[in-house]
Amino acid sequence: MAQTCTVGRIIHAAILSLGLGLACLSPGSVLPADQGSAKGGYVLKVPFGLEAPDEYIPKENPLTQEKVELGKLLFFDPRLSQNNTISCATCHIPQLAWTDGQPVGVGIHRQLATRNTQTILNRLYSKEQLWHGKMPSLEAQAQNPLAKPVRMGMPSYDAEVAKLNAISGYRERFRTVFGTDVTIEGLAKAIAAFERTILSGNSPADRFDMGGEETAISESAKRGLTLFQGKARCTRCHSGFNFTDEKFHNLGIDWDTDKTDLGRYLVSKDPEDVGAFKTPTIREIARTAPYMHDGRFATLEEVVDFYDRGGIQNPHLSNLMVPLHLTEREKNDLVAYMKALNGEGWQVEPPTEFPR
Ligand code: HEC
Ligand code: HEC
Repeated sequence: MAQTCTVGRIIHAAILSLGLGLACLSPGSVLPADQGSAKGGYVLKVPFGLEAPDEYIPKENPLTQEKVELGKLLFFDPRLSQNNTISCATCHIPQLAWTDGQPVGVGIHRQLATRNTQTILNRLYSKEQLWHGKMPSLEAQAQNPLAKPVRMGMPSYDAEVAKLNAISGYRERFRTVFGTDVTIEGLAKAIAAFERTILSGNSPADRFDMGGEETAISESAKRGLTLFQGKARCTRCHSGFNFTDEKFHNLGIDWDTDKTDLGRYLVSKDPEDVGAFKTPTIREIARTAPYMHDGRFATLEEVVDFYDRGGIQNPHLSNLMVPLHLTEREKNDLVAYMKALNGEGWQVEPPTEFPR
């Protein structure tokens, strides 16, 4: 059942059937600030502007207090890497809205990734992970970097498990949470559970758009919102409360270089997907430069100029990409709007001590 709901000024396709039949009741599936959802003992605080979490939390991996705490420890612990130098948080740095400020990720022995480090906020709301969506779940992606030679460099999952089982503090925590010693499945579940608690919402743009708070954003940002949904066509792809259709599109990034990252095609083998990448959320976007899957743009101004030109011509360019003919003022307005998407719910204090 797909229904169209008008929430404030934004048109939301209510893709969620919350079993309410009343998905359009105001404010629909959007929660008021600080309303938590109890799920297996963990109260997830969902910032204003985001959808209720319950439908998105897999039945096989409910959130519990102990599991989320364990996942946080694992996420920040460099001992998960082969030489104890790289944790997930080395590349997904909390203060940079869980990115690293580099064009591409830098892994063990300073090896470069081929793509830009994505943010891990609002992962709760999406299934397929990575720029080309190769990982079908957050659990799958939580274990993926461990044994990659260019990320964390462990020789195998077995070696990872053996290493962590030798740390009695971890063994005990796994017993409490999963009733077993350390396993790779448990590790993945715990990290995924922690990641699902990192949310971004309640931005000034949310408070204006859905909360009707007229003074929350500048007049320029208000014009930017109108452009974002209209003339600039951004919501063709950056749609809904998390600003993504969760689909893959070819914008032409790469096609002006001799690099050939085939993107989604590598997963689907569908010729339609050549050079297509996942639409990223643009929440916290002012904090997550540089931009695009190859990290080519340092500023949001450059990103807007790129869209204004209609992307980069190539045989597979999305037909949603067309020159926009924006004025300088309109470009500034779009940037002002995007800068109003910095919110809260993602700020986390790193652990100060790790299990011994
Ligand atoms: C060396 C830097 C580096 C390390 C270490 C690293 N990541 Fe990443 N992460 C990346 C890069 C680069 C991407 C995008 C990769 C791609 O699409 O090919 C990514 C993508 C992701 C995504 C997908 C986000 C999305 O929107 O699809 C998740 C989730 C993630 N990482 C979680 C983790 C976890 C959990 C760990 C630790 C177990 C970790 N990462 C370790 C660099 C890193
Ligand atoms: C055809 C679908 C589509 C349209 C239309 C679109 N985007 Fe995007 N957007 C994407 C995809 C896909 C990416 C990632 C592309 C890549 O790296 O290859 C992206 C990336 C971005 C990024 C960088 C995100 C990051 O984390 O690196 C920003 C900012 C952005 N878009 C803003 C906009 C704005 C503003 C508009 C309207 C002017 C717009 N987008 C229109 C699909 C779209």
